[in-house]
Amino acid sequence: MSRSAHPAGPRHADVLPEGRHSAAPEDLNALDPQVWSRTVTRDERGTVTVGGLAVTELAERFGTPAYLLDEQDFRARCRAWRDAFGPGADVFYAGKAFLSRAVVRWLHEEGLNLDVCSGGELATALAAGMPAERIALHGNNKSTEEIDRAVEAGVGRIVLDSFQEIVRVAKAAERVGRRQPVQIRVTVGVEAHTHEFIATAHEDQKFGLPLAGGQAAEAVRRTLGLDSLELIGIHSHIGSQIFDTSGFEVAAHRVVGLLAQIRDEHGVELPEIDLGGGLGIAYTSEDDPSEPQHIAKALNEIVTRECESAGLAVPRLSVEPGRAIVGPTAFTLYEVGTTKPLDGLRTYVSVDGGMSDNIRTALYDAEYTVTLASRTSDAEPMLSRVVGKHCESGDIVVRDAYLPADTAPGDLLAVPATGAYCRSMASNYNHALRPPVVAVSDGEAREIVRRETEEDLLRLDVG
Ligand SMILES: Cc1ncc(COP(=O)(O)O)c(C=O)c1O
Repeated sequence: MSRSAHPAGPRHADVLPEGRHSAAPEDLNALDPQVWSRTVTRDERGTVTVGGLAVTELAERFGTPAYLLDEQDFRARCRAWRDAFGPGADVFYAGKAFLSRAVVRWLHEEGLNLDVCSGGELATALAAGMPAERIALHGNNKSTEEIDRAVEAGVGRIVLDSFQEIVRVAKAAERVGRRQPVQIRVTVGVEAHTHEFIATAHEDQKFGLPLAGGQAAEAVRRTLGLDSLELIGIHSHIGSQIFDTSGFEVAAHRVVGLLAQIRDEHGVELPEIDLGGGLGIAYTSEDDPSEPQHIAKALNEIVTRECESAGLAVPRLSVEPGRAIVGPTAFTLYEVGTTKPLDGLRTYVSVDGGMSDNIRTALYDAEYTVTLASRTSDAEPMLSRVVGKHCESGDIVVRDAYLPADTAPGDLLAVPATGAYCRSMASNYNHALRPPVVAVSDGEAREIVRRETEEDLLRLDVG
């Protein structure tokens, strides 16, 4: 293919309107292994393949848009986290990132535990056979029904998030006649995102009980006073898409401070500490996340150091990665419907999905990258904005990316790192039918969540 400009396109890399795009990559067809799941490559025709299957064939079989999930990569990431933390710690996969019965089975087989934050996630976990004692229930406003169901099922821990909930869980446990293991979620005054953390005033949020001002200590007092509750530890979650451990350092220091206070005041040393999730992934080549073994080493060292200086036995550590496990394992496959070159600006490339299957760009200003997946191209880089088909001008999937200038209707585009918080946050906006999740492994593909149909939509519409 010739390196010719798009016939009606803008002049490309020399036109740089506002935005955060960097220079065009040298090779638009390259697939950065940091961003793509491990079995993704291009075949001899130049078509992107995953698990040995070409996206063109997957699109024919399952349609577009579709989330294509690399099962081998998912399992490998589970094992990497489990092995990094070892038998002395627990890894709870955060189901909010993406959950389905197949995912629960994989987690079970790979020896991970599961954090759920709603009755629906709990039902999915139990339906797929996750042993209840390996499930943790989270949430800032769990309903009485959710609490009852979790206690009856015998979940391994409930993470308490308010004074009212202490009483509600205690009552449920009394009724069932079981001593319910619980942790208390505290806010430590640290908020971390990406490379930065702020260590002031972030108690101003709906989750957890603040350490500052003594609410967390009061929650401990009340919980220890209830026979039907077994307080096993303190929980802290400081943010999302975190790339360094300095925020965890401050959090661990403050949580261990509370553990020491509990020992001094109540004469008990709590056996567990949970530092939550939030570890970052590479959405673009500019992101450089740490490997699980580095994170495990750093968190273990931090907790050990803090406990030693407080004269406490080192508690069992748990973590709750969601995004860091499932995020990189999937990409979304779209078909291009229209292209609209705006002179001196960029080309708008419209695909057959959008904010209904990936709300993160609109919601968080998240950054993604994109590649032409059905073929390679030697055409010039064209500054592009990949947009959806919804009735919102903020319906953007990839804000700024370079695509080959000959990108045209019928081409397939793939947006990597959409395994976390895309299908789980998907909506029916404009009565969009939510895409399937297709698991691909060793040359086999199957829907683990099928595509919605108009019948599914109309079934709920009972008016
Ligand atoms: C308590 C808790 N644990 C774990 C997670 C998972 O976070 P991530 O998917 O960023 O690892 C979250 C995310 O909001 C959370 O609130």
